[in-house]
Amino acid sequence: MLTQLDQLRTQALAELETLTDETALETFRVAYLGKKGSLTALSSGMKDVPGDQRKEVGAKLNEVRDAITSGLTSRQEALQQAADAKVADGIDITLPGRLGVGTGSLHPLTQIRDLAVRTLRRMGFALADGPEVETEWHCFDALNTPADHPARNESDTFYLADGRLLRTHTSSVQIRTMESIKALPVRIIAPGAAYRRDEIDATHLSVFNQLEGLYVDTQVSLADLKGTLEGFFREIFGPKTVVRFRPHFFPFTEPSFEIDVKLEAKGKEARWIEIAGCGMVDPAVFAAVSKTRGDDLLHPDQVTGFAFGMGLDRLAMILHGISDIRHLIENDTRFLAQF
Ligand code: PHE
Repeated sequence: MLTQLDQLRTQALAELETLTDETALETFRVAYLGKKGSLTALSSGMKDVPGDQRKEVGAKLNEVRDAITSGLTSRQEALQQAADAKVADGIDITLPGRLGVGTGSLHPLTQIRDLAVRTLRRMGFALADGPEVETEWHCFDALNTPADHPARNESDTFYLADGRLLRTHTSSVQIRTMESIKALPVRIIAPGAAYRRDEIDATHLSVFNQLEGLYVDTQVSLADLKGTLEGFFREIFGPKTVVRFRPHFFPFTEPSFEIDVKLEAKGKEARWIEIAGCGMVDPAVFAAVSKTRGDDLLHPDQVTGFAFGMGLDRLAMILHGISDIRHLIENDTRFLAQF
């Protein structure tokens, strides 16, 4: 039986080499490995093999079946490869495609964020960061925002089941930074996403982008605030840009301002455009932070500071004359290719 098996293997493998199509391979498979195939027939002879030889014959049987099976598989693959090569024959795969491949570019929002960050870093601000899922403490309480403030309303804010929320502004990074710093001064900027339950329209999205700034030291003044932000907006919009500070209210700054820049769209008369919020850090914020810190580094009697926040989407829209904020998230390459 051992000899028969060896012969069968030699015969099968030799036969395989002569087969050139799928049908022949299938016939081969049935003839050798099928229910009535020759290998199957041989293995039914196992029952007549004397007990002491069974092990050896059984092993040989498996060996031959494996050899034929894998021979069949590699023959199939070889035939497939040959067929594929034939199809590709005559096609010049080095010929450039007719549509061409675009090189892509940075999203206008990314460009603006990079420009703003680059400019402020040159002015001495370092990058800071904080989570988008925030505690009410970091988003509101520590920022002197009372429980009945409209920003805290469930209809204006995305709350999670555990009481945390999607931050409504990047000002939470002010608190996180002041809670963790080891020494003065604090001079940070924090670009990032903010979330509000706004009706989506040409000027509102429920996810938008802000850039926060904070400077705290022993003698920071309103003059520092004005100089820094005027300088910044002249870098962004051009050296002759007129910037004005209009009194406003934010719970966490006092006094507070909105910043307008005077800009003229092509062919139109110059207009004041609101671009950022800012102010001197309210002593109540220093008091809240000092309480969690448990030290006097940021005691309201020791330090002063200014903070500002601006919408990056808005900045991009103004700078590029984009009329609808939704363009910024639709990823239509006909729009994006313009920047
Ligand atoms: N957080 C304010 C907003 O989202 C902006 C702001 C930041 C105002 C810092 C003053 C100081 O509208």
